[in-house]
Amino acid sequence: MSARTHSALVLVGQREPFEIHQRPTITPEGSDILIDSKFTASTPLDLHRADGGLLIEPPQVLGAVTVGVVEEIGPNVTLFKPGDRVFGWAHEGNVQAAHQERITAPDWKFARIPNGFTMEEVATIPENFITVFNTMATDLGLPTPWPKPADYVPPRADEPILIWGAASSVGQQAIQVLKHYGYRHLIATASPSHHGYLKGLGAEEVFDYRDEKVVEAILNAAARVRGAQQPAIPMVIDCIGSQEGSLKAIARVADRGTTVAIMLPVILKHASNDQVPEYSMDVTTAARWKEGVEPRGVRTHFVYRNEFFKEKLATEIMPAFLSEGIVLPQRYRLVEGETMLERGTNALNALRDGISREKLVWRTSQQ
Ligand SMILES: NC(=O)c1ccc[n+]([C@@H]2O[C@H](COP(=O)([O-])OP(=O)(O)OC[C@H]3O[C@@H](n4cnc5c(N)ncnc54)[C@H](OP(=O)(O)O)[C@@H]3O)[C@@H](O)[C@H]2O)c1
Repeated sequence: MSARTHSALVLVGQREPFEIHQRPTITPEGSDILIDSKFTASTPLDLHRADGGLLIEPPQVLGAVTVGVVEEIGPNVTLFKPGDRVFGWAHEGNVQAAHQERITAPDWKFARIPNGFTMEEVATIPENFITVFNTMATDLGLPTPWPKPADYVPPRADEPILIWGAASSVGQQAIQVLKHYGYRHLIATASPSHHGYLKGLGAEEVFDYRDEKVVEAILNAAARVRGAQQPAIPMVIDCIGSQEGSLKAIARVADRGTTVAIMLPVILKHASNDQVPEYSMDVTTAARWKEGVEPRGVRTHFVYRNEFFKEKLATEIMPAFLSEGIVLPQRYRLVEGETMLERGTNALNALRDGISREKLVWRTSQQ
């Protein structure tokens, strides 16, 4: 039998145009499933890798969000059968990466698409849903009980949490998940046009991150709930990780006892059409932290070191949160193009131009 192949969008070099290559289609073994991919999303990580070469060696297939139909299953798969419509987050190597027509990956990275949701809608969920749980558990030390007891009140329910960059995909999901677990004082930053939406999701107060008085506004909001208790903001989720655009201000908000969970990489210089980006993986030198502040770099790629998350997070918790309306699909732009090459390229260009509270979703079939 001749080896099967499929089309894949391949990064052949830093800031080089993508190419379409034929890649081997891998027959699933063990608990792997082979997915006929229908949709993916392009996310900032794709830009960090394509333009900044972050933690990769081309040639490399990018992307981590796959939505599609199970085509074949390995002998140990119990979660799915051929024909199931699934969505999930899988990124390792060139076999699991999402920007191709078929991927082979472990079944526990996926969930069945709940009734009532389109494939495009669910493409907006997995990457940052998993990021938020990882951030809470690994970096902030917050419990994420599942199932959540009916009368559950988290241990730090009344401590303000700052979500910087709440209009981002990470930020929107952070607000919804934290609200669900009972955190009462979610203080956020975003552009003014998103304030109403983010309050609807559960933010108590939202401030414009471009306002030169934003730090004072955040500290005043914290004082309204906490009086003179220090630190004013005990926990921060920096959904942006930009040295100039978020960390500089957060370093003024954070005080002894504050934990700051920062989405890596730290962006020293943003990618654009004419600028090569610069990144750092070192959060300790990314800002002038006051004595006693704990900056932490979020690394969701290691989330499945947590055995409970490996068993439940993608397969069970993610679809339940979606079908119960605890998290909403994000607003998305369906990226157009005649071919996979055009769609993937257009999505990357859109990331370079900058996006505002929307996910870039595109069809993965070659034509
Ligand atoms: N290390 C990890 O485990 C991990 C996991 C997931 C994501 N990440 C990283 O986290 C970052 C965010 O990812 P994402 O997918 O959530 O991004 P995204 O949805 O593409 O973020 C876009 C949003 O960023 C906001 N923004 C841009 N600059 C800002 C600033 N200086 N202050 C506040 N908000 C700002 C914009 O807000 P407005 O529209 O309000 O202007 C925009 O809506 C990326 O760098 C990604 O690679 C890391």
